[in-house]
Amino acid sequence: MVCLGNICRSPLAEGIMRKKLEINHIDGMVDSCGFESFHRGDPPDSRSIDTALKNGVDIRQQRARLFRAEDFDKFDLIYVMDHNNYRDVADVARTPEDLAKVDLIMNAAFPGANLPVPDPYYGGKQGFDKTWELLDKATDAIVEKIKGERKDKR
Ligand code: 4NP
Repeated sequence: MVCLGNICRSPLAEGIMRKKLEINHIDGMVDSCGFESFHRGDPPDSRSIDTALKNGVDIRQQRARLFRAEDFDKFDLIYVMDHNNYRDVADVARTPEDLAKVDLIMNAAFPGANLPVPDPYYGGKQGFDKTWELLDKATDAIVEKIKGERKDKR
């Protein structure tokens, strides 16, 4: 899960995805990161923490880190929040296979619509509720996608 600061959107995406893997008994590794070093090592924004807690997810232990090329080796799916994040990740991609792992997270719920998860950083608290709502939809769709793929392999 990738955004710019790794303190607002992608920590929520990581937390909600982690919880849904657990609930659905799906083995998998989830992480989040960003491209802006300003908040490196910081916990998520307090508004993200509050929004997650309100929805039964604790993200307080997360710490912001930067995206690195090795993430393409460690992860099968790389979800970005907006078009700028897509460009940032694409710039680091080494091969077409790397790039094929990357998609806007909202495309999981609305394929091909290329909708962003807008950055709530400069807005009010309600922006974080909206972020949660979008990520809830997207991660539901990701869970269904993974379930479908794993069923095919059985
Ligand atoms: P995020 O929001 O990308 O959702 O974590 C931001 C948080 C901080 C900054 C930018 C975006 N910043 O530039 O400090």
